[in-house]
Formats: sequence, C-alpha cells, structure tokens
Amino acid sequence: MTRLNKISFAKIGTPAKGVVVGLAAQGLGTGEITTGLVSGLTGGLARVSEIGGFSGKAKTSLDLVAPSGLDLDRLIVFGIGVPGELTRDDWRNFGGAVYASLKKTKTETATVLLDAPEGVELGAEEAAEFAMGAKLRAYEFDAYKTKKEGDEAKKSLKLTLQVADPKTARKAWNTADAIADGVILARNLVNEPANVLGPVEFAAKASALEKLGVEVEILGEKEMKKLKMAALLGVAQGSVRPPRLVVMRWNGGKKADAPVALVGKGVVFDTGGISIKPAGGMEEMKGDMGGAAAVTGAMHAIAARKAKANVIGVIGLVENMPDGNAQRPGDIVTAMSGTTIEILNTDAEGRLVLADAMWYTQDKYKPSIMIDLATLTGAVLVALGNLNAGLFSNNDDLADKLLASAKASGEPLWRLPLSKDYDKIIDTPNADVKNTGGRWAGSITAAQFLQRFANDVPWAHLDIAGTAFGAPKDDICQSWASGYGVRLLNQLVADHYEK
Ligand code: BES
Ligand code: MN
Ligand code: ZN
Repeated sequence: MTRLNKISFAKIGTPAKGVVVGLAAQGLGTGEITTGLVSGLTGGLARVSEIGGFSGKAKTSLDLVAPSGLDLDRLIVFGIGVPGELTRDDWRNFGGAVYASLKKTKTETATVLLDAPEGVELGAEEAAEFAMGAKLRAYEFDAYKTKKEGDEAKKSLKLTLQVADPKTARKAWNTADAIADGVILARNLVNEPANVLGPVEFAAKASALEKLGVEVEILGEKEMKKLKMAALLGVAQGSVRPPRLVVMRWNGGKKADAPVALVGKGVVFDTGGISIKPAGGMEEMKGDMGGAAAVTGAMHAIAARKAKANVIGVIGLVENMPDGNAQRPGDIVTAMSGTTIEILNTDAEGRLVLADAMWYTQDKYKPSIMIDLATLTGAVLVALGNLNAGLFSNNDDLADKLLASAKASGEPLWRLPLSKDYDKIIDTPNADVKNTGGRWAGSITAAQFLQRFANDVPWAHLDIAGTAFGAPKDDICQSWASGYGVRLLNQLVADHYEK
C-alpha cells in the first residue's frame, strides 16, 4: 500500500496550494526558489535560513509554516548539496527524502518546485528519477494491518512536480513509473507470507502479466516429469504444495532476435528440508523466492514500458519441506541435462531448482544471454553483506555490461571468481557432481554448480541473498523486501538489448 496515490507534472510558476517544497543548493543560498509563487518570501527566507543554520547541504531541510497572505500551508526548503555533483542516484534519493518530509506534515496536497538552482542540471530524466524515489519510498507492506491509525488510512497524497518542461518529464515518468511498478511487484511478492503465496499462487501472480501483453505459460508436475526435471522435482517432493515452472515471454523485438533470458529461484519457503535449518530467523525464508520475484518484476517493467526487445523470464517455484516423502541426503537425482547430482545437503536446494530451469531455458529458447537471480547462499552475505549482490559469469563482456548497468541503475554488484579449481570442489565419486562443496567459498562453489547447467550460453549468476531482503532501510526503501534486481535487469535490457 502507498499513501502517494498520484504524481503529476506542471509547469514551473503554476500557482500551488498545500505544502510546497523548494530546492536549495549549497553555497547558493535559497534565492533560487524564487518562483512567482514564493517570491514574496525570498528576502525572508534568506534570513530564516541564516538564523536556522540551513546551508543547503544534501538532504537537510528547513520546514516553515507559510506566513499569512500566501495560499500555502507550509514551505519546505530542501537541500540538494553542491551543484555539479549530482547523479541519478542522488535525484532518486532526494525524491525519497522529500516524500518522507511530506508524509510527516500529513498533507494531502503537495508541490515540489523542481526548479534548478544555478549550476544544477535538472531535466526530464532527473525529474522522473525524483518521482521514482518518492514512489518507492511511499511503498509500505501493510496489507495485513487491520487497524490503521485513525484517518491516516484514508489520507492520500497528491504530488505535483513543477518542472521546466512538463511534457518531456511526463514521458520520462511513463518509463520510470513502469520500472517502479515492477520494483513494487517484486517487493510485494517477497513480503507476502508463504502460507498465502505458494507455487500455485505465485504462478497466478505471474499470469497477471498477460494484461501487459506478456505470454505466460505454466508447467505443472506432469509436464516437468515428462521433461525429466528430477532435480527441481526432488526439492518439491517434500511439500504437499505442487511445484510450477512459469515461462513469461515478452516479444517486443524483431522476430529473428534471440531473446534475453532471465531465470529466477522461486523457493516459496525454505525450511532446509531434511537438512533442516535452525528455528532462529527461519521466517526470513519466505523471501527465498526473491530471484523469481525480481524476474517477474523485471518482466513487468519491460512489458509496461513496451521495451523493443525479446525477453523471457523463467521461474522455478517450489517449497522445500521436510516430510516422509522428502528427498534425503545421499540421494542421487538425474537432472534434465542428464547430469547426475548427489544431494549431500537438502538445504542446498536453490541450485537444484535452477539446474533444471536453466537447462530448460537454454535448450528450448536458445537465448543470446542467460542471467539467473537467486537468494542462493548465506555465504554471499558473509562476503558482501547487504550492500552488493554477488556476480559470477562465464563471459567477461556480459559481466562488464552488468557492472555498468548496476552503476547506472543504483543496484550494486560485485564480481566474484569462477575457475576450474573451484569446480573440482564439487566433484564426487558417486555421481557427476554434488550439490554442496562445504563451507569455504560457498557462494563460488554454488555458482560453479550452476555453470554446469548454463551449457555454452553467455551466462551470469546474481546471488541476491543479501540484497533481496533484510538490507538496512534507506531513502527509497523502508520495506523488508527491496525489489533488488528489477531496476538492474531493466537497465541492462534498455542499454544493450533494445533497438
Ligand atoms: N536460501 C538459502 C540461502 C540464504 C541464506 C538466503 C540466508 C538468504 C539468506 C539457501 O537455500 C541455503 O540454505 N543455502 C545454504 C547452502 C549450504 C547448505 C551449502 C547456506 O547458504 O547455508
Ligand atoms: Mn536452502
Ligand atoms: Zn534456499
């Protein structure tokens, strides 16, 4: 849910009511917020900022009750820091921070004057990024809160952004809004508890993308058995809830163009199976479908903004439960690829799901590249914490593209190695491969395992166990689930796979 229910654009100088936010850059005082609307305040503002000690430092603000005689309730002067140093990340974060100040005022009408102080570039892209930040900051997962505080529940905010050129800003916002909706879809899927969101229910949510023109195909147990997906099915067999494999296809490119393939781990709940996890923190494993959520969210974004690219999203949906019928440590399964896998730990289940989902994807759709996203290992949290996802790739060009898209979208990635020597760690005398190489380099050996199912397709694996949920709250995310990966994947497609 969100209290921010409408963002619109108007031309700078349009009269505004309610709470008005003006920007001030550091070192330039507050003179730059002199629009027709607040010009009466200019002199006074300079004085108040001096007395209030407001310098325009980034993300500081000065909140003033508007003097009588003006049509406004309050005026918030928001600092954007030193001109000339502002990035897309900054504008997105400013949008989030300004939304937070507006929420505190409880206003239902607000206008932000995106009027560039001297030396600051503030075009349509920056305005759209700002709007996206506000929208993402406003997201709350409160669907199960039956008691909302008084009138709060009803109050919603209409936000107008005044810009130099509303037409181009609206166009940029159409795109950014589609991406934000994709992020929010991913957040909702991850936040949703596992009793509500099982494999069947998740597949139904993916089907809803049909209204955007995405072709959605759902494979059930019978079809997967026929395809010999014993690795995925082995994980699912301990749950009373049947697995699903969902294929989402967006055909926005030329018919002949090989698609970009996105593959997601969708373990709706990971108890560990027979190798059961300790009780402490196990509730977090409702988020073990964060990879599938990111892929679904990215498909939403790509379709909603009508990307001129062919993109397919494949998600493997299972629940990992201990049960009389659950698979055991020591079991050996034959994956769809023909590779035999010795299961040493039933808690290393994500790679088993991906083994069949990835093999199927490359075999059936012959993609130009394949990227899998998975909350795969606790070890990636040990290595990188919540601030970077781990990147592994068999292809330097793809890895470099992903690193560039990570920078551009503000969803950071850090590359970790793959090599033959790491690969040996998952050899076993009993089968072609074992599903865990033990504690050391746990994220790398997991990636080595996946690489065996990428065949020879340029492939990258993003271990998002640290970034999909539980990261520290920030300007644009106050929710447990972050929606990590949606902006990154969308950026990659936009920058490299679109005409
Ligand atoms: N879903 C977990 C990984 C995980 C841990 C995600 C913490 C998010 C937060 C995964 O299925 C798992 O259990 N991995 C094991 C692998 C081990 C048994 C080789 C792990 O990381 O401990
Ligand atoms: Mn596990
Ligand atoms: Zn898992």
